[in-house]
Amino acid sequence: MKIGTPLSENATKVMLLGSGELGKEVIIALQRLGIETIAVDRYENAPGQQVAHRSHVIDMTDPKALKELVLKERPHIIVPEIEAIATGMLMEIESEGLCEVIPTARAANLTMNREGIRRLAAEKLGLPTSPYLFASSLEEMKKAIDSIGYPAFVKPVMSSSGKGQSFVKSPEEIEEAWNHAARGGRVDQGRVIVEGYIDFDYEITQLTVRAKNASGEIGTFFCEPIGHVQVKGDYVESWQPMKMSEKALNRAREIAKAITSELGGRGIFGVELFVKDDDVWFSEVSPRPHDTGLVTLCTQRQSEFELHARAILGLPVDVEMRECGASAVIYGGVDSTGIVYYDVEKALSVSRSDIRLFGKPESFERRRMGVALANGADTDEARRRAKECASLVKCRKA
Ligand SMILES: Nc1ncnc2c1ncn2[C@@H]1O[C@H](COP(=O)(O)OP(=O)(O)O)[C@@H](O)[C@H]1O
Ligand SMILES: [Mg+2]
Repeated sequence: MKIGTPLSENATKVMLLGSGELGKEVIIALQRLGIETIAVDRYENAPGQQVAHRSHVIDMTDPKALKELVLKERPHIIVPEIEAIATGMLMEIESEGLCEVIPTARAANLTMNREGIRRLAAEKLGLPTSPYLFASSLEEMKKAIDSIGYPAFVKPVMSSSGKGQSFVKSPEEIEEAWNHAARGGRVDQGRVIVEGYIDFDYEITQLTVRAKNASGEIGTFFCEPIGHVQVKGDYVESWQPMKMSEKALNRAREIAKAITSELGGRGIFGVELFVKDDDVWFSEVSPRPHDTGLVTLCTQRQSEFELHARAILGLPVDVEMRECGASAVIYGGVDSTGIVYYDVEKALSVSRSDIRLFGKPESFERRRMGVALANGADTDEARRRAKECASLVKCRKA
């Protein structure tokens, strides 16, 4: 493995498609290894663009615009950071040998649509999942919910962070769930997944890395499980490690191994799983760093971002956890551009805490603008500290 000099003819170039807070950390990790980085997003001054060598603003769902940019920049590696990308074009780019796509263009394509990944996991690999049906009209959705039963989740097939998602408890709520899905989907495809409710004890993210091992072959490496709390489908806090029974942990890793081996390539994956006693259900997988994995910035020898960067480059990884910790989201609280963060010194006076402010140019009330991190003697103490630290940061209009 050789790495060139950034901004020279022999530079090793990596292009991030999507440059939010997760992409920003991946870029920082790549920069530390001497990689030339190119940050792409659909709006200007996205967090990752603020730390990359160069940046571009394009509509990444436009195949033509994507191809043009790749031909102009000629990166060695493309790293998708979001789901909303013209993944058909990524497949073309990959098959033409223009550059490598992480982990593979097929993985990006399958995981951008709940239908692709769910059918693969449940129907091809036989992994346990919630009962599910797909529907393309309100009528079909009513039938699907009738057959699956109440309560049920309705989600647009193309959406993330809980957008367009409803928890339907009675027939009166069906129509609103359909309309909400149509409004919240990335593209109004008029297609939803109806999922039966899994009454889990807790849910985890099993970060799983596919990277070269000592003998130069691709190995599978597991981080300690991450516990998290979701509100309306969006993560609010996470901690590592999540205490699990040995049986549940083994099962979680079997499932994570099966799905990531099927998707292939190199890089980190966030495998989302539901756990009840010793039973484990597969929920979904991101072929990239996971938001709940922000906690690894304070818990692991190599954060999920450093692991991703190393795996991408074909370098060895070390998934060891150093100490337990937690993360808590800092929300904008206001709708405004150019907000100001107050009382950061108070927040950072919480023992063994740290923060990341992402620098997003525009804040919304429930937009994730930063994250608080903390360590502790155990995850309970770390969670208390992270939440206190997050609550002390005040965001206001300038
Ligand atoms: N079938 C289900 N049973 C129980 N809880 C669920 C189910 N589906 C989703 N959830 C809850 O909603 C959260 C978000 O759902 P998810 O499918 O991961 O959507 P997103 O892709 O937007 O993250 C999950 O982490 C879980 O807390
Ligand atoms: Mg999820």
